[in-house]
Amino acid sequence: PPEVAAISGFPKSLLVDSSGSPILASKIPVNSPIITIYEYPLTGEPNFLLNLGDSSGKPVKLPPATVVVPQTGDKYTWPGGVGPYGSIVSYSAICQHLGCQPPYIHFYPPNHVNSAQESAPEPDTLTPQAVAAAQSNHVPAIFHCDCHGSTYDPYHGAAVLTGPTVRPLPATILEWDSSTDYLYAVGSIGVGIYPTGSNGVPSKDPKSDLESSFGSSVGTKTTVKETEN
Ligand code: FES
Repeated sequence: PPEVAAISGFPKSLLVDSSGSPILASKIPVNSPIITIYEYPLTGEPNFLLNLGDSSGKPVKLPPATVVVPQTGDKYTWPGGVGPYGSIVSYSAICQHLGCQPPYIHFYPPNHVNSAQESAPEPDTLTPQAVAAAQSNHVPAIFHCDCHGSTYDPYHGAAVLTGPTVRPLPATILEWDSSTDYLYAVGSIGVGIYPTGSNGVPSKDPKSDLESSFGSSVGTKTTVKETEN
């Protein structure tokens, strides 16, 4: 299958915090995602910025990974982590199933996946399928969308672990300047069609609106047929 090319032509953009100060890579806490709003892939979209660690809280060096798009079979190369430990990543925080955004889609850190029902962050609806997918793929932490149970692998380019999503989370390509510790967004990869609800509009209330459309398929893998607009 053809490679999905990264979108080129984006300007290089310094990542800053809400007060306008540059975000310092070495100051990003391990396993605590920051929800940032920046211009990748589109203006004003939420993204996860994350310093990924193992279950003991040590940063994990993340090499490039091949990401498969289940919808098409296309593949692309995610460039891996950046920063002092090669552990900093950024992904779109818009679920590629039907567009749920935080707090519906969120990061379950290590030690929350295996004991999902006891200690997971709210809202607490991590499915048994999601836990099984994390375990069988040997990843200690996942992104999970509470709307219909999609899960993504933060250690390998936000590849799909469980559906109903058939697209990975788009990744923001980061650059780290070791002399200043600043981070820059330099592009996006894996950008697909903006997911929409069955009425063609991203849902504001996915819990009540969308689950009724999918019924018992919620949380199962690849059995949901999305409505084309
Ligand atoms: Fe995320 Fe449906 S919108 S699983």
